[in-house]
Amino acid sequence: MTPAARAAAAIEILDAINAGAPAEAQLTRWARASRFAGSGDRAAVRDLVYATLRRRRSRAALGGGDSGRALILGALREAGVDPATIFDGTGHGPAPLTVEESVAGRPPTAAEALDLPDWISQRFQHDFGENFPQIAATLRERAPVWLRANLARATAAQAQSALARDGIETAIDPRCDTALCVTAGERRLQASAAWREGLVELQDLSPQIACAALELTPGTRVLDLCAGGGGKALALAARGAQVTAWDAAPARMRDLPRRAERAGARITLADPSGPQGLYDLVVADVPCSGSGTWRRTPDAKWRLTPENLVALERTQAAILTRAATHVRTGGRLAYMTCSLLRSENEAQVADFLSAHPDFRLETSRRMSPLTESDGFFLAVLRR
Ligand SMILES: C[S@@+](CC[C@H](N)C(=O)[O-])C[C@H]1O[C@@H](n2cnc3c(N)ncnc32)[C@H](O)[C@@H]1O
Repeated sequence: MTPAARAAAAIEILDAINAGAPAEAQLTRWARASRFAGSGDRAAVRDLVYATLRRRRSRAALGGGDSGRALILGALREAGVDPATIFDGTGHGPAPLTVEESVAGRPPTAAEALDLPDWISQRFQHDFGENFPQIAATLRERAPVWLRANLARATAAQAQSALARDGIETAIDPRCDTALCVTAGERRLQASAAWREGLVELQDLSPQIACAALELTPGTRVLDLCAGGGGKALALAARGAQVTAWDAAPARMRDLPRRAERAGARITLADPSGPQGLYDLVVADVPCSGSGTWRRTPDAKWRLTPENLVALERTQAAILTRAATHVRTGGRLAYMTCSLLRSENEAQVADFLSAHPDFRLETSRRMSPLTESDGFFLAVLRR
């Protein structure tokens, strides 16, 4: 595909996302319907769509609107590329710009240049003070790819050597014994022997740090109450925990048995009607705004509303209350979010503690893209 044809594909995909389609599903649909697109084309279109979603507000200002065409026009202007070279109307490229389109657009205002909804900017400003502009700037960039060495199969050094044999270069991160940052060859990952044999899993640095901080001993009985795809359950099982997994939407766990088998981990699925009994550790990796991961899911940044956030916070409080009923005396409750917002993190824990005097806060840590990788929050509460 020519650069113009890739831009035309990105325009079509952005228009579908504007109409409400989730970005990832729309990219998959486009790739399936576009047999002519090679892997390089698919990657380039994907990068263009995701980069544009991360910078949607500033590119809309530059392009004079938020249709797919205007957003791609904004992207070209941002990059200093002459739009006429892409909007050329030849072959599979987009139609030439109209007179109106070619005069529309202006530099973004300071608020638009942050690429956040205004209400989120206010919340971040309140929560992060002087770090706020840097946090916003980081969320405009692509996130690095992180792997977790599966300790049940390999150390980080062994995983690194195995990956290198398949042309995937990584750097071991000193902050966590399992963490590898991919520095080259990421697109070869899923075809690599290290991946097939379960030596590594995709997982960001910050949840790896959180799982390592839980200091498990072999046989610790863990209930993962929001197991979803099983990222945390697998990380904890690899550290020797006996994990029972449950999720309010059991279908989200459908790949977990296959993933556990690949990783050589034993994870028990609780009865769909709900888990029973007491555990040494209950993990509540609750549904949240995802604001710490907006580099990876940039469409979510524009979809979150104050009303959704309040609903999420209610669910978080309800899950914490339920989680507490499964913690044995002397046991721990680990509350986790991938959010940067205080209202979903510290404030949620404070509310829980004031209603549950039998728990005390042991540790709490908010990680941010400025220092770790994705934004992430962990609080450990002891009963
Ligand atoms: C952040 S995701 C979990 C991610 C998962 N722990 C992982 O590491 O891959 C939150 C999960 O909570 C589940 N959930 C939503 N409401 C819930 C509830 N009331 N009780 C338990 N789980 C719930 C969602 O279905 C979703 O799978």
